Amino acid sequence: MQDNKISIIPKPVNLTFREGNFILTEQTTIESEKGLKDTAEYFKNLISTATGFNLAMSDLTSGLNKSNTISLELTEKLDNLGEEGYCLKINQNRIILTAHKSAGIFHGIQTIRQLLPIEVEKKAKLSSFEWVIPALEIEDYPRFSWRGFMLDEGRHFFGKNVVKHILDLMAYFKMNVFHWHLTEDQGWRIEIKKYPKLTEVGSKRKESQIGGFLSKNTDGTPHEGYYTQEEIKEIISYADKLFIKIVPEIDIPGHSMAALAAYPEFSCTGGPFEVSTTFSVKQDVFCVGKEATFKFLNNVLDEIVGLFPSDIIHIGGDEVPKKRWETCPDCQERIEKEGLKNEKGLQAYFTDRIMKSLSSHGRRIMGWNQILTESSNKEIIAQKWLFGKNLIKNHLTKGGNVVFSQFGYTYLDYSYALTSLSKTYWYEPIPKSLLKNYHINILGIEAPMWTEWVRNVKELDWQTFPRLIVFAESNWTPREQKNFKSFKNRLESILKRLDIIGVQYAHKKEYQPSIVKRIFGFFTIFREPKRSSLHSRWKAF
Ligand code: ACM
Ligand code: ZN
Repeated sequence: MQDNKISIIPKPVNLTFREGNFILTEQTTIESEKGLKDTAEYFKNLISTATGFNLAMSDLTSGLNKSNTISLELTEKLDNLGEEGYCLKINQNRIILTAHKSAGIFHGIQTIRQLLPIEVEKKAKLSSFEWVIPALEIEDYPRFSWRGFMLDEGRHFFGKNVVKHILDLMAYFKMNVFHWHLTEDQGWRIEIKKYPKLTEVGSKRKESQIGGFLSKNTDGTPHEGYYTQEEIKEIISYADKLFIKIVPEIDIPGHSMAALAAYPEFSCTGGPFEVSTTFSVKQDVFCVGKEATFKFLNNVLDEIVGLFPSDIIHIGGDEVPKKRWETCPDCQERIEKEGLKNEKGLQAYFTDRIMKSLSSHGRRIMGWNQILTESSNKEIIAQKWLFGKNLIKNHLTKGGNVVFSQFGYTYLDYSYALTSLSKTYWYEPIPKSLLKNYHINILGIEAPMWTEWVRNVKELDWQTFPRLIVFAESNWTPREQKNFKSFKNRLESILKRLDIIGVQYAHKKEYQPSIVKRIFGFFTIFREPKRSSLHSRWKAF
């Protein structure tokens, strides 16, 4: 691909330039078949502000001699490009976008958007501007089916406008899974009708730790927020139009202090507890000995399943201290009665029961890699973040699916000194020793954004961009086509688009740190990211 002519991220699989250009004008017609009307409408609206064009829409018609037309068409013939692949042909007269499924058409539209001049992103009409699109042919499809981003709203609540802003940007780069981390020690962020205290109590904390994990300082300021079920539905519907699946996470049995502050009877000790104000791992977790815990969690998950159409529900399962279980008579009785080996076995028992109740609703469970054991059910989707290499390999070789989110490579909350753009770019999820026939079980890469030290959209944008764009390319473009120099060149142009959109991404000197900064990068884990230039840069806003 000629980087100097156009800049598409993720880089398309096959691209051939042709002679000439297509010029989008006020007279251009978008024709599409019935099933693509929403997507056609999305495209029309996408370009209407900057161009000022109210493009005519029509049904798909046959005939080869049409001019000044953009055609969107589904065809069985392209099933070789998969559920999300597309074919784009542009000449002086026409743009023809075809795909097997509507998701492919949607991704093709994002390519057309990136082929248009950057001014197409402007929020005001440009008069007498020539909307030129180079003639070319593209055949394109993703490397992985799971191109994910995770937002932790447990630590900080951002609200629906920020979520929509992120979803828009994900769609721009053809990402398709929004993993929504909705519960934490520090906050429960989703309305559950049967248990109102989850949000009345669990969505509020007195104050927040500041300065980093080793700091004793707090800000003295309350923090709160949650999504009503109506807002959840609104966001799911918004994401659906962008062909993004929302996978909700209810993190259990650990990371649950906010829920236990509301309902302490489901802990081992009975509490009382408060919603956590510090960010270290907490010892109190759900009691797996008490039957009432399962009743409660199943009722919560019933509402989650009722809200989210996703076939996958994430149940967390990371960082579960076993200390309370060791001394809890109920937990110990459960271990004995079920013939479990120890407290680790108790977590496996917990996972298994939650899995069974979710599969009775036709849903698969997903969890962080700590939920895996040698004998884990292969229906589980594991998310690899830390340790557990052999269990992950074992899971993959028995046909289980894995999403890779390796700590230190994919975590967007880390400083760019620790996780620079080039380190991120060269991260490869496939374990070296994994036989080729098991590669298919790897779903893709997901980049988690943990928000202990991220409090607003400016800080969120800064940590997330441009790093997330790297994962868009790693997840889409074939491995053998990866080229960091080419990526950086294309990124320069893409960042100009983000400037217009108003994304407050990190400075170049930040995301391409010096060697010295990178050497000391490890130590940045323990303190809050400084983001000093962020504040000067955005003061004007
Ligand atoms: C995690 O970072 N605790 C999954
Ligand atoms: Zn217990």
